[in-house]
Amino acid sequence: MAEVPPVDVLVMGAGAIGCYVGGSLASEGVRVFFVGRPRVLEALERHGLRVSDLDGGERYVPPGSLRAAERIPRGVHPGLVLLTVKSSDTAAAAAELGEVLPPGTPVVSLQNGISNAATAARVAPGLRVLAGMVPYNVAEIDRGAFHRGTTGRLAVQDHALLRPWLAVFDSAGVPIDRHANMLPVQWGKLLLNLNNPVNALSGLPLRQQLMDRGYRRCLAALMDEALEALAWAHIKPAQLAAVSPRRMPTILRLPDPLFKVIAARMLRIDDKARSSMADDLALGRRTEINELCGEVVRLARSNGARAPLSAKMVALIEAWPARPQPLSAQELLSALGLG
Ligand SMILES: NC(=O)c1ccc[n+]([C@@H]2O[C@H](COP(=O)([O-])OP(=O)(O)OC[C@H]3O[C@@H](n4cnc5c(N)ncnc54)[C@H](OP(=O)(O)O)[C@@H]3O)[C@@H](O)[C@H]2O)c1
Repeated sequence: MAEVPPVDVLVMGAGAIGCYVGGSLASEGVRVFFVGRPRVLEALERHGLRVSDLDGGERYVPPGSLRAAERIPRGVHPGLVLLTVKSSDTAAAAAELGEVLPPGTPVVSLQNGISNAATAARVAPGLRVLAGMVPYNVAEIDRGAFHRGTTGRLAVQDHALLRPWLAVFDSAGVPIDRHANMLPVQWGKLLLNLNNPVNALSGLPLRQQLMDRGYRRCLAALMDEALEALAWAHIKPAQLAAVSPRRMPTILRLPDPLFKVIAARMLRIDDKARSSMADDLALGRRTEINELCGEVVRLARSNGARAPLSAKMVALIEAWPARPQPLSAQELLSALGLG
């Protein structure tokens, strides 16, 4: 019988977020087990795992110290699971976790969107699933190398099971803020992520797209629509950027020269950076559009209202594979009925 590896933290979905957070923890001596796809596992086996950040921080875990597999080892008993797959894979990943792990194992969903933790909890009711939110951007910059390009602290639903982990996450450089109610935090992040489909449809690097007032008007209108749906639902989104969610659309609509001055911090982005949805479209992968704009449509509908702009964005992204052509700002404004 195969020996069961001792595991402190199990990363379910070794991609950008899983490797960054898991790699940071492993560099502090935490026994991390990575469950992932062969492409990533081969890179870890050959190159080890390197995590870096925009402040110049760098940590490295050599191949010999990494434990990883395509499936969760039977009999394993991790103290904590980080669920880091994309939303469309949540149900399948949670089913695998539920089948193998002991009841009550804490699972933190480090995913975008609003419903991933609920989906995982529904599929694996024996596990203790906690909602989480990752505020920063992580990209795979080389084989086995993951770079955090922006700042922020992880946010996780508060629970006693989380407390023993706080100090180690802190010293690993991935500190956690705990929240009694994650919904405002998740919606605060979702509002910012509404730029993902705009960026993906523009075909431009993020900075260039945000410097175009036409695209910013599209984003501002999407944010206004989402803010209205949130107001109907009595949800006050958390402020995760320098500007409050309410003021953001006004700032976005400013003329380019004024926006450039006022939003200087927002525009501190690598020249080549694009949203991960742009990469998903380019690689023919499923996007998280249903967990972003689709969530706004569902929230509006639950209050007897509509969110036609978000619905249109879902349709445009879903139509992309049949017509993979970027839209100019004017074309996107017209498609959304904004002029
Ligand atoms: N990257 C960021 O900067 C960032 C920032 C904030 C939040 N987020 C959110 O964090 C979540 C994860 O994003 P990510 O960018 O880290 O995604 P990612 O790089 O695609 O990583 C997820 C990995 O998990 C793999 N996977 C899926 N199902 C699996 C399974 N059952 N067993 C083993 N591996 C499995 C995927 O493989 P395949 O794709 O080959 O199936 C992929 O390699 C998303 O909700 C995203 O929106 C990302």
